[in-house]
Amino acid sequence: VTISDGSSRVTAVLPTGESVEILLFGATVLSWKDASGDEKLWLSEGAKLDGTKAVRGGIPLVFPVFGTAPDHEATSKLPQHGFARNSRWEFLGKSETSSNSVKLDFGLSSENLDDAARQLWPYKFGLLYSVTLAPESLSTALVVTNEGDVPFECQTLLHTYFKIKDIASVQVTGLEDSPFHDKVDGVKDKTQSSDPITFSGETDRVYTPVKGPGHPVIITDGGVEKFRVVRDNLDDVVVWNPWVDKAAGMGDFQPKDGWKNMVCVEAGAVSSWQKLEKGDAFEGAQTIYLH
Ligand code: BG6
Repeated sequence: VTISDGSSRVTAVLPTGESVEILLFGATVLSWKDASGDEKLWLSEGAKLDGTKAVRGGIPLVFPVFGTAPDHEATSKLPQHGFARNSRWEFLGKSETSSNSVKLDFGLSSENLDDAARQLWPYKFGLLYSVTLAPESLSTALVVTNEGDVPFECQTLLHTYFKIKDIASVQVTGLEDSPFHDKVDGVKDKTQSSDPITFSGETDRVYTPVKGPGHPVIITDGGVEKFRVVRDNLDDVVVWNPWVDKAAGMGDFQPKDGWKNMVCVEAGAVSSWQKLEKGDAFEGAQTIYLH
């Protein structure tokens, strides 16, 4: 396993050719390629990678709030999706989980935050984020620890932008019959039919799948199974595509018709709050399998 650890990015390449690249800003996974060099994640050509803005694409990490939560006092002042995706993380090192897989660890704690972020959310916490690359899969796992004396509540989400050929022929299965909050029209108590999800307009939904985290959510592209997402301790799945108008409104979304080539299927704990007492830890993870 080859690792290169630059000042702003860490990349790992397996002997069989698969690779992953992580930007220390946000611990954002920017790229995941299979052995043939085929990219699996969508990254906007207009994404800012210099730390001036959260990355548009890859796998941004949402913590400690999903979206904004004006009614949740402790997080109400934070920017959309929190500060983890806007903070510079530390690379803690790698461990080889076998001769052909690698785990890269990243850390962020209250001490690493800039003063502005620390004032907006004054809790003592530690985050450990592990990215594991294996020939047919990528896992991302987050452990949140309360390192202070005061309890806090948090949400987290692995905001994966999957690269796909054509959104019009994408289907997402595994969320059938599940309740969801439709963020497009604001209706909170809808239920998915027993059909797969298809896309024909702006889509922004928070599902709590009835089948539980271990049951895969599958992304099919033109009739071919592309990705299988298995969750661990993350009860919710957000499905998002901005479509024409929302994409047009995002300055860092390029090319403008790039929404045709991406779909976000995001594993998280966002429909409620995880309460961590002093010393408590919460762990949540996803594994994405190819095919
Ligand atoms: C999704 C949300 O998770 O992230 C959407 O459900 C939101 O509502 C999208 O638009 C992108 O958010 P941002 O802050 O990266 O533009």
